[in-house]
Amino acid sequence: MAAALLSNVTDHASLPSSYVRPESQRPCLEEVITNANIPTIDLTSFDVVAQVAHACSSNGFFQVVNHGVEVELIREMMEVALEFFRLPAEEKAKHYSDDPAKKMRLSTSFNIKKETVRNWRDYLRLHCYPLEEFVPAWPSNPPLFKEVVSTYCSEVRQLGMRLLRAISLSLELEEDYLVKVLGEQEQHMAINHYPKCPEPELTYGLQAHTDPNALTILLPDPTVAGLQVLKDGQWIAVNPQPNALVINIGDQLQALSNGRYKSVQHRAVVNKDKSRTSVASFLCPCNNAIISPPEKLITDGSPAMYRSYTYDEYYKKFWSKNLDDVHCLELFKS
Ligand code: OGA
Ligand code: NI
Repeated sequence: MAAALLSNVTDHASLPSSYVRPESQRPCLEEVITNANIPTIDLTSFDVVAQVAHACSSNGFFQVVNHGVEVELIREMMEVALEFFRLPAEEKAKHYSDDPAKKMRLSTSFNIKKETVRNWRDYLRLHCYPLEEFVPAWPSNPPLFKEVVSTYCSEVRQLGMRLLRAISLSLELEEDYLVKVLGEQEQHMAINHYPKCPEPELTYGLQAHTDPNALTILLPDPTVAGLQVLKDGQWIAVNPQPNALVINIGDQLQALSNGRYKSVQHRAVVNKDKSRTSVASFLCPCNNAIISPPEKLITDGSPAMYRSYTYDEYYKKFWSKNLDDVHCLELFKS
């Protein structure tokens, strides 16, 4: 089964037909806007809340700098991610699974059992909170994996909480409103690896999707662009900035903000000459968190967009679908 991992092959001569998108669904790379980028927020600036309000309502995506996650730790996290995908096939095979319910698994594409066309990606998915519960089952190779990834996870969590407070304030809610509603949040990580691809025009590293969780913090590959974000019907390339982290609103913050903030479509494209690695950290509401917008955001002009539901219900629905299907949040409209 693990033979399916793309990273076990050094050079792929041609793109297997299982990865080829129908013509109408291809990335049209020459039409992507490469000189626009998403807003960057310096978290030490005096008007962070106003900048967050603007970025969340206009783009749903922004980069943060001076975010408190140590530069050296970011470098180590990226190094250990690269090393992991360079491990021998036998070593990686130990962790392989296509079962989305597993709390630690290495897989390929997106959701092998549901999808019709594959994505040019391998990924290691980890549950990360509370660390003591999950770290023992994480890979012990590369040797520094557990130590570096767990330190990175705790720093990223702190940043996430800080952002959720700023986002609450930006919606004119009490500072700890979202942190309270989301409960004891789970934290998941996807270490994504997109190998060099012989035909980048015909496929995706990760097809267009929105993130099903609350807030995502992405550490992009510092040397290769690949993440693209949809704005006003056009794909915009996110150009990596040294030591910046990319933040996006997930489906749950779209629902909790009653649609004021959008969980924006994004995708990862692949390159002919360079592989690319990214580390996504997902803050997820606790399973029994009730997702329902605050009274304050429901007005005559903007009635409740979604019925209330538990995150558990949402997450199960999400993984039971294919990314090509109707958007998961649509199924929860009131
Ligand atoms: C994700 C994601 C983008 C990237 O993992 O959900 O959108 O650039 N990743 O790897
Ligand atoms: Ni995503």
